[in-house]
Amino acid sequence: MGADRRQKQISIKSAAKDKKILIVDDDKLIRIGLEKFVSKLGFETLNASSGDIALRIIEDSSPFMVLLDFKLEGAHDGLDLLSMIKKSRPEIVVVMISGKGDIHGAVEAMKAGALDYLEKPVDFHRLEEILKSSLSLELALPASGPSILDDFILANDKMRKIADIIQRLALKTDITVLVLGESGTGKNFLCQKIHKLSSRKDYPYVQIGCSNIPETLFESELFGHEKGAFTDAKAAKKGLIEMAQGGTVLLDEIGEMPYTFQAKILSLLEEKRFRRVGSLQDIHADIRLLAATNRNLHELVQKKRFRLDLFYRLNVATIELPPLRERREDIPLLVNIFLDKFGEKYICPGKTIDRAGMDMLKGYSWPGNIRQLKNLIEKMVVLSDEQVIGIDEISSNLLTQQVIEAEQANRLENMTDLSLEAMEKKYIRTAMKLSGGNQRKAADLLKISRDTLRYRLKKLKNKSNYSAKTEN
Ligand SMILES: Nc1ncnc2c1ncn2[C@@H]1O[C@H](COP(=O)(O)OP(=O)(O)O)[C@@H](O)[C@H]1O
Ligand SMILES: [Mg+2]
Repeated sequence: MGADRRQKQISIKSAAKDKKILIVDDDKLIRIGLEKFVSKLGFETLNASSGDIALRIIEDSSPFMVLLDFKLEGAHDGLDLLSMIKKSRPEIVVVMISGKGDIHGAVEAMKAGALDYLEKPVDFHRLEEILKSSLSLELALPASGPSILDDFILANDKMRKIADIIQRLALKTDITVLVLGESGTGKNFLCQKIHKLSSRKDYPYVQIGCSNIPETLFESELFGHEKGAFTDAKAAKKGLIEMAQGGTVLLDEIGEMPYTFQAKILSLLEEKRFRRVGSLQDIHADIRLLAATNRNLHELVQKKRFRLDLFYRLNVATIELPPLRERREDIPLLVNIFLDKFGEKYICPGKTIDRAGMDMLKGYSWPGNIRQLKNLIEKMVVLSDEQVIGIDEISSNLLTQQVIEAEQANRLENMTDLSLEAMEKKYIRTAMKLSGGNQRKAADLLKISRDTLRYRLKKLKNKSNYSAKTEN
């Protein structure tokens, strides 16, 4: 143990050589304490008692890291200073020092670009860990191998920012992250990344679909039960939370969680404890909770379907994934990784999409977001005879996709009308919608002549006008 520690000290020392750390705090005693510790590890130290002095020192001596107190006297407080540093010198690592329990402030700081935060009184062991990981981050950067985020497509600025935030949030292995976004925007994908980026990565990742569990079974599914807790409980059973010990639990579609159960999740979050059904003993939960939903939780709170206190507790570190139509620059990249992926899976490599086809994909509205795009590419890789996929193939596949979806939605609402006539109507309507009302384009899509389309449109119109009076 002792030798281990010495080894660690030596490697930090060589990496820390010539690196400056600036300590910014208006409390002199804290500055002295931190300086002592940091210089013992081999760093050079600088210190500042106010934001203005700090800015000057940063200008002059380019520190590697700034340890920055949240509360500063003078014109700039810690958060202000943090954003100024990140704007002008993004390469400088900033670690915030906060008063006890200021979790909102801490999350704000991470979103604004801080690497991490420490609570007062500063735990020197943790500070050492942070210093070490920021040194290894720096050392690992140029030659890093395949990374967890390699297949996470993020040409879009918002997405880059999200990737940046989750890398830092992932390190805080206790912070609950709430992920919002339309269906198919990558919420589950992102949550998995958070788990894999965290030090919990070697423990289980358990995803719980809240809409799939009947209300009466919620408690025993999540918390487990003792033998005899209810009629069917023939043996004791671990719940999903207990199976995830050490790891991460995603409460997926949390908007669908039964109202009565929400209080139990709140108390799990606050006390980190739970009980199996039929037991009087608390079990400590060493897990990180993540939550995802495509619902508007605000609205659910107003409709009394979601508890306000749980909403507050979850809404600390919130990430909102943009719909695909708001990150169109990511579309070609996604298309290419899906072409590769499915090319490999179905052993038909090297398929591509031509220029006009790519433009069409970039221009489409993608109501089903990345999931829809992925399905479309899979289908075309499997079904297309061509190596180069073009606009015709894409539009006819999109058309079928839409008709099928409309059909499914319709099936839920009305009795299904599978008559040829009804299908024709749907195809024509969808084609007209897809082509923005342009008859020539719609006719191309449907692979019929423009005259035929005109004729059918007229027929449809007559039908709906006179359907009450005429048969046929
Ligand atoms: N940034 C991304 N890069 C590559 N593939 C992604 C990305 N985000 C999502 N995907 C893929 O898109 C599909 C839908 O994502 P998913 O996480 O299930 O969406 P959601 O949970 O929001 O409905 C998945 O197959 C996932 O692998
Ligand atoms: Mg999902």
